[in-house]
Amino acid sequence: MCGIIGYNGFRDADIVILNGLKKLEYRGYDSAGIAIIDKKQQVYKEIGEIKNLEEKLPKIKGTIGIGHTRWATTGGVTKNNAHPHLSTSGKIAIVHNGIIENYVKLRENLEKKGFKFVSQTDSEIIANLIEDNYKGNLKDAVFSAIKKLEGYYAIVVTCEDEPDKIIGARLQSPLVIGVGDNENFLASDIPAFLKYTNRVIYLNEAEICVLTKKDVKVYNKDEKVVDKKENVIDWNIQDAEKSGFPHFMLKEIYDQPDTVNQVLRGRISEIHRNINFNENVENLLNSNISSIQIVACGTSYYAGLIGKYIIEKFTDTPVFVEFASEYRYFGLKHESSLVIAITQSGETLDTLAALREAKNSGCKTLVITNVVGSTATRISDAYILMQSGPEIGVAATKTFTSQIIVLLLIALKLGMIKNKISAVQLYEYIRYLREIPRTVRDVLNKNNEILDIAKQLKNAESVFFIGRGVNYPLSLEGALKLKEISYIHAEGFAAGELKHGPFALLTKSTPVVVIATKDATYDKILANIGEVKARGSQVIAIAEIDDTEIEKHADFVLRVPGGSGVLPSIPIIVVLQLLAYHVADLRKCSIDKPRNLAKSVTVE
Ligand code: M6R
Repeated sequence: MCGIIGYNGFRDADIVILNGLKKLEYRGYDSAGIAIIDKKQQVYKEIGEIKNLEEKLPKIKGTIGIGHTRWATTGGVTKNNAHPHLSTSGKIAIVHNGIIENYVKLRENLEKKGFKFVSQTDSEIIANLIEDNYKGNLKDAVFSAIKKLEGYYAIVVTCEDEPDKIIGARLQSPLVIGVGDNENFLASDIPAFLKYTNRVIYLNEAEICVLTKKDVKVYNKDEKVVDKKENVIDWNIQDAEKSGFPHFMLKEIYDQPDTVNQVLRGRISEIHRNINFNENVENLLNSNISSIQIVACGTSYYAGLIGKYIIEKFTDTPVFVEFASEYRYFGLKHESSLVIAITQSGETLDTLAALREAKNSGCKTLVITNVVGSTATRISDAYILMQSGPEIGVAATKTFTSQIIVLLLIALKLGMIKNKISAVQLYEYIRYLREIPRTVRDVLNKNNEILDIAKQLKNAESVFFIGRGVNYPLSLEGALKLKEISYIHAEGFAAGELKHGPFALLTKSTPVVVIATKDATYDKILANIGEVKARGSQVIAIAEIDDTEIEKHADFVLRVPGGSGVLPSIPIIVVLQLLAYHVADLRKCSIDKPRNLAKSVTVE
């Protein structure tokens, strides 16, 4: 995820673009840049936050330009990799948000034609591709170029030879037009220009727009002009940063259909029936691995526990999951083990320390993280990026689902390497993975139902979450989400363990959330519900759509799309996230910044 902006008007473009970038900084902040046409393209870039760029930027004349704040995916965090990128002649400048999957091939072809590249990004090829197709009309060149792109993008383009226009195009990445008087804007998100105008035009998939100072024209993919409706936004700036959601956490929960697509992108292939990772990761997974140790903290640790169930099921390889803070001092370190560190931020001190211990002991190390260039990516032998965009809410949501999907991909890949799963089975799983965004949307559509259940929980002093198999770590995560943002005491238990102690805490006023999917232990979980009900506690079941039995046992039922084994896990997580969110909201808690917690824990 990155933030992009374009401006064409009468104001100083440098000021408008810097203001806009600051509003987009939540979308990425590892480098930023600006390109303004003052006869020639004037390009400035800096590593780090936008204030670094602002401090070093000289005054630039010019009323047309583009800007970018980066969340690196392809190519590390360097000045050369920062946007805007120029074409070889230096005349065309582009900013890009997205991933171009066929960039290696396109780059090879362009290099053969004499085009020069200075970055390792997929984005730079877009500038040269447009130049390669340029015959005096920028719009036509953009149309020709994007036909060759595979992947997804939002781009904004300017050209020295046509200094009266900016062009935008999008496919599966956001881009919105801001319409002003004698000025027009393009940006990834409305807050970037809301200070200047609240009139917006939304671009549909595959549309292109041409913005002069006075005019906005939108074209469909067949290059025909389309009539677009202007919308007037009545959000204030703060609302707009959250895309109209009251909290970042809720926005991030609703981001999940997209983030699931992003984490899968480029990694699964139905045609070749394969899972693809980068070369370093593939080499690690193909090496001789006797066992896997997963180290992590908090929600990432629970993702690790889910990973244990999944990886053992598909590979027969033993998996041990340890808190990073314990592993670093007490964990056994075997040279033949693969140590997988899971960390959204890539900066959690305990996880980094565990990773260093593993590395120093000769273990192979792999990191699953959301932050390219983070310390974890620099310590490990290889890393897999979640590609979920920045997560602002302290409570991890979209990155948890991405972690689980990465672990599922690792399990499937290892299963194939070890001949434990066939190409036909893999194909079935790939089809399921493609369905996940839809199943997540189905759960999001039940938001009001989940809010009604949250009303049942909001005054509880203590809530239990129980499940068996993979539903046990899901219960732990459900309890963690509730306790960290609503401050209600909550515990997750393996359902079979209740009778070994926790029952002593159960009273009539302790609601129990039971995750009851139709796996081999379904009858056992019904029996557990019976035990809970016998003690007078209220049972809220999360069950599959086609479960006709559950209503006879539970007081309330929330339904999720079904499937076998670990497959319903992602929609269940979304239910648990929304449940915690609504309870916290009803209790008027500080949802995005809960007391005593920090997003990234860089102390021991
Ligand atoms: O950045 P990390 O994934 O390493 O962070 C680990 C935990 O601090 C984090 O998951 C924490 O538990 C979250 N607040 C949970 O919502």
